[in-house]
Amino acid sequence: MTVEEMDAASPDRPKSEPPVIVITDRSIDPHVVVYHEPKSIQSEQYRAFRTNMLAMEKGRGSRALAITSSMKGEGKSLSAVNIAICLAEAPRLRVCLLDTDFRAPSVGRLLGLGDGPGLSDLLLDDLELGDVLCETKVRDLCVIRAGREPRNPAELLASDRVGDLLSALKTEFTHIICDTPPINPYTDAAVLGARMDGVLLVVRMGKTSREQAERAKHVLQRAGNNVIGSFLTDVAAAADEIDYYKRLEE
Ligand SMILES: Nc1ncnc2c1ncn2[C@@H]1O[C@H](COP(=O)(O)OP(=O)(O)O)[C@@H](O)[C@H]1O
Ligand SMILES: [Mg+2]
Repeated sequence: MTVEEMDAASPDRPKSEPPVIVITDRSIDPHVVVYHEPKSIQSEQYRAFRTNMLAMEKGRGSRALAITSSMKGEGKSLSAVNIAICLAEAPRLRVCLLDTDFRAPSVGRLLGLGDGPGLSDLLLDDLELGDVLCETKVRDLCVIRAGREPRNPAELLASDRVGDLLSALKTEFTHIICDTPPINPYTDAAVLGARMDGVLLVVRMGKTSREQAERAKHVLQRAGNNVIGSFLTDVAAAADEIDYYKRLEE
């Protein structure tokens, strides 16, 4: 937008003041708030989650966490990306974010990465880890995209090669975050989650019903997953919360 266009759009803005120009990286999805709006309430909440998560770990080695939910569209991928960035921004942490949702991959798009080989290609073809590991614009955050859609995703995620990959990643990264498909239609997340140190259940306010969330938790636990907590998305910020965070910033 030019200065003239800004003047026309906001006639009340004093003309003597220079326009505020926010330069953001448009290749990264605007919903990735931790990247674009680090001072927002949402980003503050992601950092609060990081603090709690790190406190729960009590310094125990490399941690692998799966982010899942009962249905699609509840905010798994956005939460996984925001959590991964938040962790990577903390001192001494190095994060690898894996997209294990082969049917509806989105991590690469959310982080503005182009197309390329990913997890399924690594597991099915004769590829090296270096062929699929992507650096991102966030320091200390690497990504493995989903790759092509395999014939049987759950079987692939249950294979020994996934165990080998997780072991290899744990030598290089302090945290491994997996974005997963929804639990109720597919078994993939429960299969993968059982190999992780913890699973986070995303619940979208006003969308996920209590029955759906409880069913998802039950399915995960029955498959041997360590459900470490729920992560609420789309929570309308209450006025008193806004005041609270404003006071924190002062
Ligand atoms: N915290 C949020 N704030 C605003 N919009 C959100 C939020 N989480 C999800 N959305 C919206 O919901 C859509 C689906 O989110 P996504 O993370 O892709 O869900 P999932 O991975 O569970 O299918 C996004 O495109 C976005 O528009
Ligand atoms: Mg998703």
